[in-house]
Amino acid sequence: MFSHDIIKKRIIVIGANGMLGQRIIHFYSGKENIQLLGCSVEPSPCFNNVDYKSCDISKREAIKDIILDFYPDYIINAAAFTNVDLCETEREKAWKINVKGVEYLAEASRIIDAHLVTISTDYVFDGSKGPYDERAKPNPLGYYGRTKLASENVLKISGTYYTILRTNVLYGIANSHPDFVRWVFNSMKEGKHIRIVTDQINNPTYIDDLVQAIDKVLGFRKYGIYNIGGREFISRYDFSIRVADFFNLDKSLITPIITEELKQAAKRPLRSGLITIKAESEFGFKPTPINETLEIMKKELLQ
Ligand SMILES: NC(=O)c1ccc[n+]([C@@H]2O[C@H](COP(=O)([O-])OP(=O)(O)OC[C@H]3O[C@@H](n4cnc5c(N)ncnc54)[C@H](OP(=O)(O)O)[C@@H]3O)[C@@H](O)[C@H]2O)c1
Repeated sequence: MFSHDIIKKRIIVIGANGMLGQRIIHFYSGKENIQLLGCSVEPSPCFNNVDYKSCDISKREAIKDIILDFYPDYIINAAAFTNVDLCETEREKAWKINVKGVEYLAEASRIIDAHLVTISTDYVFDGSKGPYDERAKPNPLGYYGRTKLASENVLKISGTYYTILRTNVLYGIANSHPDFVRWVFNSMKEGKHIRIVTDQINNPTYIDDLVQAIDKVLGFRKYGIYNIGGREFISRYDFSIRVADFFNLDKSLITPIITEELKQAAKRPLRSGLITIKAESEFGFKPTPINETLEIMKKELLQ
């Protein structure tokens, strides 16, 4: 994208220290025609060579000042309160970050006519009859899903140029908390027994596929809602077996269980997953097969 532009495009990445945010920063950093600013709630960045500002998106004036000062063409919001179970008990905080935060970004975005891209989730659905396309009726089971759905609705009436990318089960290389693949790999490497659910089905999304999708959305100026997910619909248990097989780990360490046994605070959508035909046909989104993504991750996991 942007390879023929003479004037630099300005991109601000909110939640730059998170799992997805880091990969977005990695993708755009060093590109000649991009001026990049990372922004997250922590005092300092977990990356080098990219400008960084600490800010809390639930602070309306603070985030507005940063955005109006940088005057971005594009705002990519990868920040969120993502702990699904904590969202049940810390509802005010979840609403402030996931809903009000998006509202404040949209307000600032509208003032300068920036294009705001924000990330949503399959947790807006109840998981009774997935996989879902973009027109399916949301019905979140938990508070996290409710906040993410509310943030989508905030954007719809915001009057700004926006794109919502719904995704599910992000995995890939990042320096933040371990993703599902790394957690399975590390646990099994250490000989730990793990219990994995057989009844949650999604299409896990390789983070860099999502980053590519974001870049295409900006390049093709695609607005509205798009699903971004992986190529394969698979249960968490089968996914962990794929990881074990790929890395020749001892599969007997994995015990199949059902979600109910975990007694989690928040209910999960079970038969979920996101149909990606719209993104594939409108901007050439191409999810990478799981084995290829594991091949890419291998270098980092085995070092
Ligand atoms: N991971 C998944 O499987 C998945 C699936 C579907 C959708 N999503 C969505 O994808 C997006 C990225 O997820 P992720 O997994 O990369 O999340 P993540 O690793 O938890 O990163 C979120 C980032 O946002 C920051 N943040 C939290 N509150 C903030 C605030 N008030 N102001 C500014 N920054 C704040 C976090 O900082 P702290 O770490 O200090 O809190 C963190 O750096 C989120 O919108 C999430 O809802 C993720």
